[in-house]
Amino acid sequence: MIPYTKQWIQDSDIQQVCQTLGADFLTTGPQVERFEASLCKLTGAGHAVACSSGTTALHLACMALGISSDDIGLTSPNSFLASANCIELCGGKADFVDIDPDTLCMDTRALAQYCSNHPLPRVVIPVDFAGTPADLPAIQNLARKYGFSVIEDAAHAIGSVYTHGGRTFQCGSCAHTDLAVFSFHPAKTITCGEGGAVMTNDDHLADILRSLRNHGMVRPGNLTPAGKDTDLHGPWYYEMHTLSSNFRITDFQCALGNSQLRHIEQFRDLRQRIVRTYNRAFKDDGRLILPPKALAENACPHLYPIRFNRGSRVRKRVYQGLLDQGISCQVHYIPIYLQPYYQKKYAYTQGKCPEAEIYYASTLSLPLFAALTRDQVNHVITTVKSLV
Ligand SMILES: Cc1ncc(COP(=O)(O)O)c(C=O)c1O
Repeated sequence: MIPYTKQWIQDSDIQQVCQTLGADFLTTGPQVERFEASLCKLTGAGHAVACSSGTTALHLACMALGISSDDIGLTSPNSFLASANCIELCGGKADFVDIDPDTLCMDTRALAQYCSNHPLPRVVIPVDFAGTPADLPAIQNLARKYGFSVIEDAAHAIGSVYTHGGRTFQCGSCAHTDLAVFSFHPAKTITCGEGGAVMTNDDHLADILRSLRNHGMVRPGNLTPAGKDTDLHGPWYYEMHTLSSNFRITDFQCALGNSQLRHIEQFRDLRQRIVRTYNRAFKDDGRLILPPKALAENACPHLYPIRFNRGSRVRKRVYQGLLDQGISCQVHYIPIYLQPYYQKKYAYTQGKCPEAEIYYASTLSLPLFAALTRDQVNHVITTVKSLV
């Protein structure tokens, strides 16, 4: 069976994890700090706060911004549930802005329109779908105009870059956003098993994130006057200033993440090569629509979403046919607002974001991962062509 995605764990990764298992710290130790420093080095962001998943990274980011019951948060419907649920988990209301069919990311014109005729959002969470960077500079311009914060959901996009004003920026650099998040689930380009990180250039937000990651406890320098009573208290003393939970990641997960990060250039090249091979094979077939152009250029591709001109019936047939031939694939994504939770709570209905719905009806993500062999890629190509 060819999976649609798979991690690539090498001997060097296993060695790093085993060494950490024998070390003094299994959690909250030096590997976490090393991983955070590596993420900062890769992206150019000032701070990385590693945590237990991409989902908890989004939750922490919304908590750090103080999202609460009066707040509206906007995201792309073409994403995993977590991009919207983080707003709801903080008590806010998740709403959705349609996608641009060329990039499959949030349509910035639709965002501008939303801001001009709805109550303003507190936060906007653009998603770098499949590894294609969302238009972060345009979203930053709107953020300045309308006063909202921006969290880049870069769960798909570690290693992707975009250019603006003649300069190149890494996804997750926070050059045009307040915060960014990564996921290190095994389906992603690099993995910790489970894991995530919040990136920021804001020292204050970074302090809040570190505290929220660990039950809202504060550092010794930030104690209340009562906490400074040295007769009663001592070095053991801790204070909790905000309600939070345990969002921590272990040292052995970060050891894996660190080791995987060393391969990111190689993983990016291999993924791009597969995308280019698929593109060459499918580009002249009028029945197929290729993924966004950026995927083969400046992205570190996470998914290869192909679309079928003749829609959902063909998609279903190809999906089943591939499975019968030992090829697994997936569909990314069902528009989030069509989930019963959202429909019931906000009466969101079919037709809310037409482009996301048109896209969902015809898309299929073909296998894409660094260890996919040339023969496997060719098998996928010939099978898709024969089925379509
Ligand atoms: C766009 C997006 N955001 C967030 C997440 C959540 O990441 P995790 O699975 O690490 O919790 C995912 C996971 O698939 C995702 O695809």
